[in-house]
Amino acid sequence: MNNFWQQLPKPIVALAPMCGVTDLPFRSICHKHGADVVYTEMVMVQGLSRRNPKTLKLAAISEMEQPVVIQLGGNDPEAFYQAARIIKELGPAGIDINLGCPAKKIAGDGSGVALLRDQERSYQIIQATIEGADGIPVSFKTRTQIKSKDKTDVHTSLELLEKVKDLPVAAVMVHGRSFEAPWIEKVDYEYIKKVKENFSGIVLANGGIYTPEIAKDVLEITGADGVGIGHGVYGQPWIFSQIKDYLATGKYEEKTWSEKRAIALEHARLAFKIKGKQGLLEMRKQLLWYVKGLPNATDYRQGLVHLENLEEIEETLNKIEQK
Ligand SMILES: Cc1cc2nc3c(=O)[nH]c(=O)nc-3n(C[C@H](O)[C@H](O)[C@H](O)COP(=O)(O)O)c2cc1C
Repeated sequence: MNNFWQQLPKPIVALAPMCGVTDLPFRSICHKHGADVVYTEMVMVQGLSRRNPKTLKLAAISEMEQPVVIQLGGNDPEAFYQAARIIKELGPAGIDINLGCPAKKIAGDGSGVALLRDQERSYQIIQATIEGADGIPVSFKTRTQIKSKDKTDVHTSLELLEKVKDLPVAAVMVHGRSFEAPWIEKVDYEYIKKVKENFSGIVLANGGIYTPEIAKDVLEITGADGVGIGHGVYGQPWIFSQIKDYLATGKYEEKTWSEKRAIALEHARLAFKIKGKQGLLEMRKQLLWYVKGLPNATDYRQGLVHLENLEEIEETLNKIEQK
């Protein structure tokens, strides 16, 4: 097996998977600004195993973002096997399984975090994916725990790791919150530390990492091999290199608005090149994230959410000056 995870420099700074955010253009920008590994949005195995064109598009990857991990979602082991066989041909560095998504549509269907309740099925899914991946390293992403449906019991990811001990799981990213925990709840980094102590593969700590300083603290508390960044990347895909600089030297540089603007424009051009008009429409929310925090950001919001083409985006961004 070519386990790229073991070859990455540590600590690993990863872009966590986010539906509607971590598409190919954004992943490429994050890679360029220091992400050691990037995850795709979750791609549903049912669609993949039927070779649904829309699903295949979501799984499209490029050399310019490698190493890239394609994340799969679903609840049927056979479909995971088929999906892994299909995406293996796309050439990802790794394949990840979503055992953490709390969204009603996903968890309500017995997928995502709900799979922690059915650890036998989770085992079968991981095993089937490893078989289908045929040498490409398989990882999973999960939360700390979920309550049983009648709320009398809890099912933890530590139990799952114990159950799959005989399977060659290469890495796990743990979002240190339970299914039931609201977004604002503190992330349980001590739990991630326990995962690190009980699992011999790569462990990435995830949840609440918005700054290089937090990344350093989390690495110290958890002893993890790296961190996964979700919300913390909004409007600042350069956070990866800032984290690395901070870990190496204790310092990092803030970007000026003109540097940020150049990256935002490069991102928009790439989104247009890869996804056409749709890419620019999807870019609108990213543009709002890029300007967030500028003194007059609210003055530009209306304009940014109505931009239709690259020229308009460039013109509008050029008008914005850092006060
Ligand atoms: C918009 C959005 C979409 C997400 N989509 C996924 C997904 O497709 N797969 C997944 O495993 N986690 C997904 N997540 C969860 C993140 O990967 C991450 O675990 C979570 O946001 C906590 O990390 P953070 O505090 O760094 O954001 C998503 C989160 C957000 C905000």
